[in-house]
Amino acid sequence: MVTLQPLGNTGVQVSEIGLGTWKYHGGVEPLRRGIALGATLIDTAEMYRTENVVGQAIQGMRDQVFLATKVSGDHLRADAVLWAAEASLKLLGTEVIDLYQIHWPDNRVPIKETMQAMETLVDRGQVRYLGVSNFSLRELQAAQAVMSKYPIVANQVLYNLNARDIERDLLPYCQQQHITILAYTPLDDGRLAASSRFRRNRSTQVLERIAAEVQKTMAQVALNWCLSRPYVIAIPKSDSVERTVENCQASGWRLSAEQVQQLDAAFA
Ligand SMILES: NC(=O)c1ccc[n+]([C@@H]2O[C@H](COP(=O)([O-])OP(=O)(O)OC[C@H]3O[C@@H](n4cnc5c(N)ncnc54)[C@H](OP(=O)(O)O)[C@@H]3O)[C@@H](O)[C@H]2O)c1
Repeated sequence: MVTLQPLGNTGVQVSEIGLGTWKYHGGVEPLRRGIALGATLIDTAEMYRTENVVGQAIQGMRDQVFLATKVSGDHLRADAVLWAAEASLKLLGTEVIDLYQIHWPDNRVPIKETMQAMETLVDRGQVRYLGVSNFSLRELQAAQAVMSKYPIVANQVLYNLNARDIERDLLPYCQQQHITILAYTPLDDGRLAASSRFRRNRSTQVLERIAAEVQKTMAQVALNWCLSRPYVIAIPKSDSVERTVENCQASGWRLSAEQVQQLDAAFA
């Protein structure tokens, strides 16, 4: 079963492996299998056009899942935020979104206007927790500074062995503030999996060796490496039941500190 981790400072526990749904074409089965294995955090967005299939997949088990969706960065005016949330609720077939995230920042709209609208959604009971996505440290701090009632509990950003920019400033800040990082594209779009059509290099050879050592797949090791960082959870996407099961089994165990260091060095 997928292990739970705290979501920011909320006191709520979420699955450390979630189910991503960008370019998801798997139908309801992979999502349902993932949920059965404890990957109960599902990530979607108004822009993905997958809220509908997520809504279908969770029918009859809404209380078992933690639903994360996003308002498009093109809809950050106050009235657009409120309207987008209504549309997402309808497509998801639910009365409340667990985590509502701003998909990407838009510096043409005052951040205060957007964050106040996000807070209104919590006041209305349509959203439980607020998050952002693709926010730099500066943008995150600017958003935090204009919040008057509720905290930002998560920032969803690109993070995998090949993409480690956030380690410079955003990750340490979020860890210190207890803001969860939802690591997107944690498999580097499949490049960190054994079946990758990309040629192996010296880094992926280390990944392959460690996978053999711990008797896991390369994808599982790549995901577990994300989980070795405090306050990081990973949200891989797969259209296949088999690979969804494989990804869920990236949880429930840990690489040793030495193995993590070897991966850090190999992918530096
Ligand atoms: N906030 C944002 O701006 C943003 C941006 C990008 C992504 N995201 C979120 O993050 C989620 C995941 O990111 P992603 O979809 O970009 O990339 P990803 O999860 O790193 O990789 C997905 C790709 O890897 C393949 N794959 C999955 N599991 C595998 C396994 N065990 N072995 C081999 N191949 C495997 C998938 O193919 P199959 O489907 O055929 O298995 C797919 O081609 C998205 O779905 C979305 O929810 C958010």
